[in-house]
Parts: sequence; C-alpha cells; structure tokens
Amino acid sequence: MHDLKTLQEAFRKALASEQFAGHPQNLYNPIAYTLNLGGKRLRPLLTLIGCEMFGTHYSKAVRAAIGIEIFHNFTLLHDDIMDQAPLRRGNPTVYRKWNPNIAILSGDTMFALAYKYIAQVDRHILPTVLEIFSATAIEVCEGQQLDMDFESMETVSIDQYLEMIRLKTAVLLGCSVYVGALAGGASINEAEILYQWAINLGLAFQLKDDLLDLYAEPDKFGKQPGGDILAGKKTYLFLKTLELAQHEIRNELLALYNNKTTDPVSKVNRVSEIFHSVDVKSHTLALIDEYALKAENNLGFLDANKVRLSFLKEFTRMLMQRES
Ligand code: IPE
Ligand code: IPE
Ligand code: MG
Ligand code: MG
Ligand code: MG
Repeated sequence: MHDLKTLQEAFRKALASEQFAGHPQNLYNPIAYTLNLGGKRLRPLLTLIGCEMFGTHYSKAVRAAIGIEIFHNFTLLHDDIMDQAPLRRGNPTVYRKWNPNIAILSGDTMFALAYKYIAQVDRHILPTVLEIFSATAIEVCEGQQLDMDFESMETVSIDQYLEMIRLKTAVLLGCSVYVGALAGGASINEAEILYQWAINLGLAFQLKDDLLDLYAEPDKFGKQPGGDILAGKKTYLFLKTLELAQHEIRNELLALYNNKTTDPVSKVNRVSEIFHSVDVKSHTLALIDEYALKAENNLGFLDANKVRLSFLKEFTRMLMQRES
C-alpha cells in the first residue's frame, strides 16, 4: 500500500502524461490551462485511496481518477461564470481570460472527456460506475441550481443550505471514493460506507470553503476574498449570523446583502464586521468538527482488520487543516 504523498505524486504524473492540446485552440487551450493550474487534487486522491484500501494497486483506478478530476474542473469552469468569479487558483478564470462562450464549450468538452476516462474501469464494474457517476453529475447540477436560486431569496433555512452543499459538493467526494473502492474490489456495502464517510467530509469541506472565502490568506486561497458576499451567497456564515444577531443588526445585514450598489470593499468589510460581532467563525468551526466526527463514526462500520483506516484518518486531517 502506498502513502498519500506517493499517491498524489502518482496522480500528478498520470495526469501530466495526458495530452489536452488540440485544434481549435480556443476549445482545448482552456482545458489544458485549467488542468495545469493544479489545485489540491483531493477527489482523485480519494479514488486512489478507495482502491488501495482494499489491497489493490492504484493503477486500477487511475483512469477513473483522471476522469473525476476533469469532471470537477469542468464544474469550476461553469461555476466561475455563474458566480462571476475573477480568480481561481491565483489566476484569471477561464471566462475572464477568454470569454463565457469559450468557458461553456470547453467545460462541455471536459464533461465528455470525464466520461471517456471513467468508462475505462474494469468491465464488470462499468455499469455500477456509470450509474453512480451519472447520478452524481445530475445531483451536482441540482445543487448548483439551488445555490443560484438561493442568491435571490432573502434567506433560507440551515437545513436547506446543508442539502444544497450536499448536492453541489459532497456527493462528488462520495462518488470519488465509491468508484475507487469498487475498482479496488470492495463490496457494494463497503463502498457505501465510504460514500457516507465522504459525504460527511464533503459537508465539512464546503463549510470550510465558505469560511476560507472570507478568512483565507488571498495568496494561498487563490480566489477573490469575500466573493460569496459580493455574489449574495447564502453561506453558513450568513445564515448562522442571521440566527444569532439582534434584530437591528439582522436587518442591517439583510439590507446590505440586498444592496447591489454598495461599494464592494466597504460591503465586504461591514458584513465581515457583523459576522465577527456574533463570532460566527467559531460556530462554523464547531459544525465542521461535528461533521468530521460523523465521518469518523462512519468508519466504525468497516472491518478494521481488512482495511487500513489510518489512511482515511490521515486524509481527513489533511482536509481539515487545509488553508487553500
Ligand atoms: C472547489 O473545490 C469547489 C468546491 C467544491 C468548494 P476545491 O477546493 O477542491 O478546488 P481545487 O481543485 O483544489 O482548486
Ligand atoms: C462550488 O461551490 C461547487 C461546485 C463547483 C460544483 P463554490 O462556488 O463555493 O466553489 P468555489 O468557492 O467557487 O471554488
Ligand atoms: Mg464559485
Ligand atoms: Mg458556486
Ligand atoms: Mg466557495
């Protein structure tokens, strides 16, 4: 069994050996640009971990892992148009560097490429893999639409928010480990336990993403600080603050969020002060810990003699400590 660093490096090499250049350049260059900008590569790592946990060499899952990373990057191309985000991984987003039409079409191509790679799993698991991958892709779109719908709603419940992030983010982490586990010879039951584990981690992961959107060091995070506030996103920070704040502050926050003409810098600063006044950061960190604990409890359903749980715990630590 390989350690996480080795798996990360193996994935980096496998992806680097693929060619994404082609003609017309305006279709293929954005694909190569995005995939070369790196990112944390968490989802393919989950796929390789899922595979090796069951005593199978990662090479059995590496093509599927490439497909999942391409799918993730496709969602980012479209997400950045939808969120009007200028920066990704410290560089201009595709729709800004080129234009929105190019980002749409390169994204579509990446979605097809994702299927091409994912379909390279062993034949006997192919129907199950295609089924979960297709269902996941649809759920991600459902989550993304809810995320957009919420922008124009004054407020939503925290349960609605949690369901939205389960769909837009957590299910892809679930699918990543599920596919890897199947490739590694896991039973459906084992793959499902890992899926649940990754769902809880995914919820913690998106909560942390919301937190980092405002509090990360911009150089490390590589996205526009306060982008969620400017887009009117109903993040956990926003919703929990509404719940905690006194009437007057609550109204001020709602008015600020609704006002699209306020100068962006003063808007982010004032919203950030309001968040701080109810210490929403601590509340968010507490919920992140709750989901990390739920994830750990899911692992209790796996046979610790058969699978290396320390591997999964190491991944969890890595995820929780991230600053980008
Ligand atoms: C960004 O995902 C989109 C979310 C679901 C929050 P990552 O934070 O994994 O992005 P990269 O791939 O590392 O850049
Ligand atoms: C992204 O959520 C979820 C998907 C891309 C499917 P965000 O919009 O919060 O992701 P970032 O912050 O732009 O990476
Ligand atoms: Mg976004
Ligand atoms: Mg988004
Ligand atoms: Mg975000």
